[in-house]
Amino acid sequence: MKFNHICIIGLGYIGLPTACMLANKVVKVTGVDSNPDVIKSLIDGQVHIHEPGLQEVAEKALHTGGLHVSDRPVEADAFIIAVPTPFYDDKKADLSYVRSAAEAIVPVLCKGNLVVLESTSPPLTTQNIVLPILERSGLKAGEDFQLAYSPERVLPGQILRELVENARVIGGIDEASAQAGKELYRIFVKGEIILTDATTAEMVKLMENTCRDVNIAIANEFSRLADRFGVDVWEAIQIANRHPRVKILNPGPGVGGHCISVDPWFLVEAAPDLTPLIRTAREVNDAQPEFVVTLLERVLHGVKGKKITALGLAFKQDVDDLRESPAVEVVHNLVKAGAVITTYEPFKTGFQIEGVTAAKSLEEALAEADCLLLLVGHTQFRSLLPSTIAKTTKARIAVDTVNGWKKDEWQAAGFDFYRLGDRKSKPE
Ligand SMILES: NC(=O)c1ccc[n+]([C@@H]2O[C@H](COP(=O)([O-])OP(=O)(O)OC[C@H]3O[C@@H](n4cnc5c(N)ncnc54)[C@H](O)[C@@H]3O)[C@@H](O)[C@H]2O)c1
Repeated sequence: MKFNHICIIGLGYIGLPTACMLANKVVKVTGVDSNPDVIKSLIDGQVHIHEPGLQEVAEKALHTGGLHVSDRPVEADAFIIAVPTPFYDDKKADLSYVRSAAEAIVPVLCKGNLVVLESTSPPLTTQNIVLPILERSGLKAGEDFQLAYSPERVLPGQILRELVENARVIGGIDEASAQAGKELYRIFVKGEIILTDATTAEMVKLMENTCRDVNIAIANEFSRLADRFGVDVWEAIQIANRHPRVKILNPGPGVGGHCISVDPWFLVEAAPDLTPLIRTAREVNDAQPEFVVTLLERVLHGVKGKKITALGLAFKQDVDDLRESPAVEVVHNLVKAGAVITTYEPFKTGFQIEGVTAAKSLEEALAEADCLLLLVGHTQFRSLLPSTIAKTTKARIAVDTVNGWKKDEWQAAGFDFYRLGDRKSKPE
């Protein structure tokens, strides 16, 4: 199949890097987004999200490559849908973006086209939701056009490299669709391309993230057990992991982001009778921010009125993505408990939480604190020198929820140091 023109719907963390990759491979690409601000900033040559290297490849794609932006799909050889798939408050999948993206393709869908859904989706979405919408065009899936599902499995912060190098799964509604998908992604993917059916590909993505969520849940439970039994969970995990068949993940303040904290619910919704473990793991991880609050209540002898500086709000280190972030949840819970919170998120300094002071600089964040609370292991925070920090803050208590700081260094600099899941980390 020849792909001269590809239309990508949704220009976020996934769609925009993919559009740039293709456009810089001398393919004409139309990038579509329903958000006028996204379109405007790209027309101005500005990338609206933080991802290392993306600004440069986007500039190249927009100025010298084949990337054009539009607010609606145009006729093309292939369409890639990369729109959000969040959940509602009741944890049910919100497929409205997928539906509206598929509906927008209908008027421009032509014989011989390929459509690929990349958005993480509940099992059977390609077959039971996208396919019937596209057939409103009067064309028949598998006969007149091809349809596949290909999940994105990249790591934020590494997206440009992983898009090219990662193994990619492509599930077709039939073999020809999977094969067409392979030819499309071969334009820029160097990793292995594995073909299967659409529903298996949907399951693969959900299983990967669910597996991680369940494994983090057990690490988080271990942190609570260690706290109760006077153990340092980080030391215990390190020792356990020396067993050749054990690989315990790291605990932390919870699980966030657009993927791992969301995707398991798609399986729970699809088959509640078969997923008690998956549901429980989600509940364990969702309760972890409250465990952080309990820790602070203990070390500060109550948080009411205490000035706490929360370092980091992103859902993980070195990214600007705050979606479903447990750090934000910790801050919300601390505010509810009466603490006086200042936040500092270097990747989104303007981000405002009600009732909280958002510091514009680290210096401003540190100045008035009683307690420093490390919520995200950003490189900038990991590399802080406690001896220098001690001169810029009156706080003498440091609480580390991500194992980002060295206990002995903070203690040597005069801090009472506490770490999540580490009951040995009392001040000397
Ligand atoms: N971000 C990640 O690291 C990651 C990793 C793997 C999978 N995914 C999955 O990929 C999908 C996309 O995620 P993302 O992080 O890129 O989302 P995002 O929110 O960063 O970007 C999605 C974009 O789609 C646009 N959009 C929404 N509806 C539209 C429509 N009908 N037509 C045109 N544009 C529309 C939005 O304005 C937004 O700019 C999701 O299903 C997500 O779960 C994301």
